[in-house]
Amino acid sequence: MNDVPGMTTDSAAQPAPSEQQLRDALARKLIESGAARSPRVVEAVRTVRRHLATPDADMALTYEPEVATVTKTDSDGVDISSVSAPRVQAMQLEQAELAPGHTVLEIGSGGPNAAYLAEVVGAGGRVVTVDIDAEVTDRAARFLEATGYRNVTVLTADAENGAPEHGPFDRIVVTVQAADIPPAWRDQLKDGGRLVVPLRMRGLTRTVAFVRDGDTLVSDGFELCGFVPMQGIGENRVRLAVLHDVAGEEIALRLDGHSEPDTAALASALMLPQEKAWSGVTLGGEESNEHLDLWLTTALDNLPLLAAKPRARDHGLVASASPLGIPTLVDGDSFAYRTVRATGEEDRYELGAIGHGPRGRQLAERLVEEIRVWDRGHRGDRARITVRPAGTPDDRLPADGRVIERRHSRVTITWP
Ligand SMILES: C[S@@+](CC[C@H](N)C(=O)[O-])C[C@H]1O[C@@H](n2cnc3c(N)ncnc32)[C@H](O)[C@@H]1O
Repeated sequence: MNDVPGMTTDSAAQPAPSEQQLRDALARKLIESGAARSPRVVEAVRTVRRHLATPDADMALTYEPEVATVTKTDSDGVDISSVSAPRVQAMQLEQAELAPGHTVLEIGSGGPNAAYLAEVVGAGGRVVTVDIDAEVTDRAARFLEATGYRNVTVLTADAENGAPEHGPFDRIVVTVQAADIPPAWRDQLKDGGRLVVPLRMRGLTRTVAFVRDGDTLVSDGFELCGFVPMQGIGENRVRLAVLHDVAGEEIALRLDGHSEPDTAALASALMLPQEKAWSGVTLGGEESNEHLDLWLTTALDNLPLLAAKPRARDHGLVASASPLGIPTLVDGDSFAYRTVRATGEEDRYELGAIGHGPRGRQLAERLVEEIRVWDRGHRGDRARITVRPAGTPDDRLPADGRVIERRHSRVTITWP
């Protein structure tokens, strides 16, 4: 009988890492990747026994930086609840710029992230976590009880209305994808307070750190991310235009306020030969497309995202199967999507576009032209995202911005 945690009775086998070793290794990886930077966040990662929130999952996997533990899937197979990946949690904790004594609202519960928040704000602070799903809040409450976090209040409610009895908050951290910012989130945030939210803008989701300034939220940085979709009053899912419906190799356009495409014509176009255009603009292997993609979204009108299953890519139907989707310029019966190819230089890629359909070449060239505009004028720039209430007159919006209209908000993206 082996009564030493983490040890095996097989002398030839390596002992499994202990819980504490797993947490220390996770903290090290998060520091190395830049996701965790501040001492209090690192200490929280070293402390919270996150694996206890999902007892059915492999303990070691729950301490892997990039692994989210999915806990619920809907009838269409879409993940609707999870404990987020540690890297994403650390990134949001840093974006929130938390301090001891803060009162924080977490939207979307799971347990571990509320525990991290509680660690960072300390005994003098307070955390309120709200989830629409009673199964989730039951599990989170049991986890928080078992791990001893007494300064966390767990609520079951639709977070569209925030948590009015518990505010105002110094920080609000949203851990579910939002297409809009309900007024309650802004109103329950103290002026100067920070709202961290995975905001979907024309299909692209970025976790944005906003600072409240009166009725306006102004971004102070954003990070690439993926989150489960909002449920309840604020539910607003992307629509799919399916271009290829073979089981296991589906290809679809994700539409988010884009005009209805001629899906049948685009599906036929997909079967026509690829038309490639190259920009001469290169990226290093470590550089992300995230700012370029946001630029393309602000510069070009009809640009949904192309999503494909890995088998579609493996069969040569598309060049990429990025889970976040690839910006795709659509016009009538033709489309073109952003792509890359290797250059002669090690770990350097050239940006280009692949077109399909009667005007596939023209659209690929149009996309490539816009990649060059970004490279010449905006490479290294960070967009500013501003949220003002719906009904704000145009002359109060930032000049030269791309405006995304939502039910409660006018979201404006501007570039320096
Ligand atoms: C990614 S999970 C939260 C992860 C959690 N913060 C953690 O510890 O990692 C997102 C959660 O948001 C919840 N959710 C979705 N829509 C919601 C809404 N309108 N109000 C409150 N919670 C919602 C889902 O039930 C799901 O459990």
